Amino acid sequence: MTADATVHSPLGAPLRIREHTLRNRMVATAHATGLVREGLGLPGDGDYWARIASGGVAMVITGATITARDSQPRSGNLIEAFRPEARPTLQVQAQAISAGGALPVCQLVHLGRETRGAETWFAPVAPSSVRSPREPSRPTRSSVSGCPRRARCWRPPTSAR
Ligand SMILES: Cc1cc2nc3c(=O)[nH]c(=O)nc-3n(C[C@H](O)[C@H](O)[C@H](O)COP(=O)(O)O)c2cc1C
Repeated sequence: MTADATVHSPLGAPLRIREHTLRNRMVATAHATGLVREGLGLPGDGDYWARIASGGVAMVITGATITARDSQPRSGNLIEAFRPEARPTLQVQAQAISAGGALPVCQLVHLGRETRGAETWFAPVAPSSVRSPREPSRPTRSSVSGCPRRARCWRPPTSAR
Protein backbone atom coordinates (compact mmCIF):
# COMPACT_ATOMS: atom_id res chain seq x y z
CA MET A 1 0.00 0.00 0.00
CA THR A 2 1.25 3.50 -0.81
CA ALA A 3 1.64 6.16 1.85
CA ASP A 4 -1.44 7.97 0.53
CA ALA A 5 -4.28 5.47 0.90
CA THR A 6 -6.98 8.10 0.48
CA VAL A 7 -9.98 6.85 -1.51
CA HIS A 8 -11.56 9.51 -3.68
CA SER A 9 -15.25 8.69 -3.90
CA PRO A 10 -17.39 10.28 -6.61
CA LEU A 11 -19.89 10.95 -3.81
CA GLY A 12 -17.68 13.84 -2.77
CA ALA A 13 -17.53 15.45 -6.19
CA PRO A 14 -19.58 18.60 -6.85
CA LEU A 15 -22.48 18.32 -9.26
CA ARG A 16 -23.91 21.09 -11.40
CA ILE A 17 -27.67 21.11 -12.03
CA ARG A 18 -28.59 24.10 -14.17
CA GLU A 19 -27.86 27.18 -12.04
CA HIS A 20 -27.19 25.15 -8.88
CA THR A 21 -23.89 23.60 -7.90
CA LEU A 22 -24.26 20.85 -5.33
CA ARG A 23 -21.20 20.56 -3.11
CA ASN A 24 -21.30 16.73 -3.26
CA ARG A 25 -23.69 13.91 -4.24
CA MET A 26 -25.25 13.36 -0.81
CA VAL A 27 -28.89 14.14 -0.08
CA ALA A 28 -31.01 14.13 3.07
CA THR A 29 -34.15 12.40 1.74
CA ALA A 30 -37.62 13.73 2.49
CA HIS A 31 -38.62 13.66 6.11
CA ALA A 32 -39.99 16.01 8.76
CA THR A 33 -39.63 17.07 12.37
CA GLY A 34 -43.27 16.85 13.40
CA LEU A 35 -42.81 20.30 14.96
CA VAL A 36 -46.08 21.38 13.38
CA ARG A 37 -49.37 22.50 14.88
CA GLU A 38 -52.54 22.98 12.86
CA GLY A 39 -50.57 22.92 9.62
CA LEU A 40 -47.91 25.49 10.55
CA GLY A 41 -44.34 25.04 11.77
CA LEU A 42 -43.37 25.52 15.41
CA PRO A 43 -40.17 27.06 16.81
CA GLY A 44 -37.33 24.55 16.57
CA ASP A 45 -38.25 23.26 13.12
CA GLY A 46 -35.82 25.65 11.40
CA ASP A 47 -33.00 24.84 13.85
CA TYR A 48 -33.36 21.17 12.97
CA TRP A 49 -33.01 21.84 9.24
CA ALA A 50 -29.97 24.04 9.85
CA ARG A 51 -28.31 21.19 11.76
CA ILE A 52 -29.07 18.70 8.98
CA ALA A 53 -27.62 21.01 6.31
CA SER A 54 -24.51 21.85 8.31
CA GLY A 55 -23.82 18.12 8.53
CA GLY A 56 -22.48 18.43 4.99
CA VAL A 57 -25.05 17.00 2.59
CA ALA A 58 -25.56 18.92 -0.64
CA MET A 59 -29.35 18.81 -0.79
CA VAL A 60 -31.99 18.64 1.92
CA ILE A 61 -35.54 17.60 1.06
CA THR A 62 -38.24 18.65 3.50
CA GLY A 63 -41.27 16.37 3.53
CA ALA A 64 -44.69 16.15 5.20
CA THR A 65 -45.92 19.19 3.27
CA ILE A 66 -49.37 18.96 1.72
CA THR A 67 -51.18 20.72 -1.10
CA ALA A 68 -54.80 20.45 0.03
CA ARG A 69 -56.91 20.45 3.17
CA ASP A 70 -58.32 16.98 2.45
CA SER A 71 -54.79 15.58 2.76
CA GLN A 72 -54.42 16.70 6.40
CA PRO A 73 -54.88 14.11 9.15
CA ARG A 74 -56.86 15.07 12.24
CA SER A 75 -53.60 15.59 14.13
CA GLY A 76 -52.83 18.56 11.83
CA ASN A 77 -49.15 17.62 11.79
CA LEU A 78 -48.47 18.18 8.09
CA ILE A 79 -47.46 21.62 6.79
CA GLU A 80 -50.27 23.19 4.77
CA ALA A 81 -48.39 24.68 1.83
CA PHE A 82 -51.64 25.78 0.18
CA ARG A 83 -52.19 28.41 2.91
CA PRO A 84 -50.47 31.80 2.67
CA GLU A 85 -49.90 31.59 6.45
CA ALA A 86 -47.52 28.67 5.84
CA ARG A 87 -45.14 30.88 3.88
CA PRO A 88 -43.02 31.86 6.94
CA THR A 89 -42.63 28.18 7.87
CA LEU A 90 -41.40 27.34 4.37
CA GLN A 91 -39.13 30.40 4.30
CA VAL A 92 -37.55 29.48 7.64
CA GLN A 93 -36.89 25.97 6.38
CA ALA A 94 -35.38 27.19 3.10
CA GLN A 95 -33.22 29.83 4.79
CA ALA A 96 -31.99 27.40 7.45
CA ILE A 97 -30.97 24.84 4.84
CA SER A 98 -29.32 27.45 2.62
CA ALA A 99 -27.41 28.86 5.60
CA GLY A 100 -26.02 25.36 6.19
CA GLY A 101 -24.68 25.33 2.63
CA ALA A 102 -27.20 22.90 1.13
CA LEU A 103 -29.84 23.28 -1.57
CA PRO A 104 -33.35 23.30 -0.06
CA VAL A 105 -36.03 21.25 -1.83
CA CYS A 106 -39.59 20.89 -0.60
CA GLN A 107 -41.45 17.70 -1.43
CA LEU A 108 -45.12 18.57 -1.92
CA VAL A 109 -47.63 15.80 -1.60
CA HIS A 110 -51.30 14.97 -1.62
CA LEU A 111 -51.77 11.70 0.25
CA GLY A 112 -54.44 10.64 -2.24
CA ARG A 113 -55.68 7.14 -1.55
CA GLU A 114 -53.60 6.62 1.58
CA THR A 115 -54.18 7.62 5.19
CA ARG A 116 -51.08 5.74 6.42
CA GLY A 117 -53.21 4.80 9.40
CA ALA A 118 -53.76 8.37 10.54
CA GLU A 119 -57.21 9.47 11.68
CA THR A 120 -58.72 11.87 9.20
CA TRP A 121 -61.84 14.01 8.80
CA PHE A 122 -61.80 13.33 5.03
CA ALA A 123 -62.26 10.12 3.08
CA PRO A 124 -59.12 9.19 1.09
CA VAL A 125 -59.63 10.35 -2.48
CA ALA A 126 -57.99 9.30 -5.76
CA PRO A 127 -58.59 9.47 -9.52
CA SER A 128 -59.88 5.87 -9.35
CA SER A 129 -61.20 3.70 -6.53
CA VAL A 130 -58.29 1.24 -6.74
CA ARG A 131 -57.32 0.33 -3.18
CA SER A 132 -53.78 0.93 -1.99
CA PRO A 133 -52.23 -2.33 -0.73
CA ARG A 134 -51.38 -0.41 2.44
CA GLU A 135 -54.99 0.55 3.15
CA PRO A 136 -57.96 -1.53 4.39
CA SER A 137 -60.55 0.20 2.20
CA ARG A 138 -60.95 1.74 -1.24
CA PRO A 139 -60.62 5.50 -1.73
CA THR A 140 -63.43 7.70 -2.93
CA ARG A 141 -63.16 8.21 -6.67
CA SER A 142 -62.67 11.91 -7.30
CA SER A 143 -65.40 13.69 -9.22
CA VAL A 144 -64.48 15.20 -12.60
CA SER A 145 -64.70 18.67 -11.07
CA GLY A 146 -62.60 17.57 -8.07
CA CYS A 147 -59.52 16.70 -10.19
CA PRO A 148 -58.80 20.22 -11.51
CA ARG A 149 -59.59 21.66 -8.09
CA ARG A 150 -56.94 19.43 -6.52
CA ALA A 151 -54.52 20.15 -9.36
CA ARG A 152 -54.91 23.88 -8.69
CA CYS A 153 -53.86 23.26 -5.09
CA TRP A 154 -50.33 22.56 -6.39
CA ARG A 155 -49.98 26.18 -7.42
CA PRO A 156 -48.34 28.43 -4.82
CA PRO A 157 -50.64 30.72 -2.81
CA THR A 158 -51.06 34.08 -4.53
CA SER A 159 -48.89 35.87 -1.97
CA ALA A 160 -45.98 33.44 -2.59
CA ARG A 161 -45.76 33.94 -6.37
C1 LIG B 1 -39.67 10.68 10.40
C2 LIG B 1 -39.64 10.36 8.91
C3 LIG B 1 -40.41 11.11 8.05
C4 LIG B 1 -40.40 10.83 6.68
N1 LIG B 1 -41.15 11.61 5.84
C5 LIG B 1 -41.11 11.36 4.50
C6 LIG B 1 -41.82 12.20 3.61
O1 LIG B 1 -42.46 13.17 4.00
N2 LIG B 1 -41.76 11.90 2.28
C7 LIG B 1 -41.04 10.83 1.81
O2 LIG B 1 -41.02 10.60 0.59
N3 LIG B 1 -40.34 10.04 2.63
C8 LIG B 1 -40.37 10.28 3.96
N4 LIG B 1 -39.62 9.49 4.80
C9 LIG B 1 -38.80 8.40 4.22
C10 LIG B 1 -37.35 8.83 4.10
O3 LIG B 1 -37.19 9.88 3.16
C11 LIG B 1 -36.46 7.65 3.64
O4 LIG B 1 -36.84 7.23 2.36
C12 LIG B 1 -36.58 6.50 4.57
O5 LIG B 1 -36.37 6.93 5.89
C13 LIG B 1 -35.56 5.38 4.18
O6 LIG B 1 -34.28 5.87 4.27
P1 LIG B 1 -33.30 5.37 5.45
O7 LIG B 1 -33.20 3.90 5.29
O8 LIG B 1 -32.01 6.08 5.20
O9 LIG B 1 -33.96 5.80 6.74
C14 LIG B 1 -39.62 9.78 6.17
C15 LIG B 1 -38.83 9.03 7.06
C16 LIG B 1 -38.83 9.32 8.39
C17 LIG B 1 -37.96 8.48 9.32
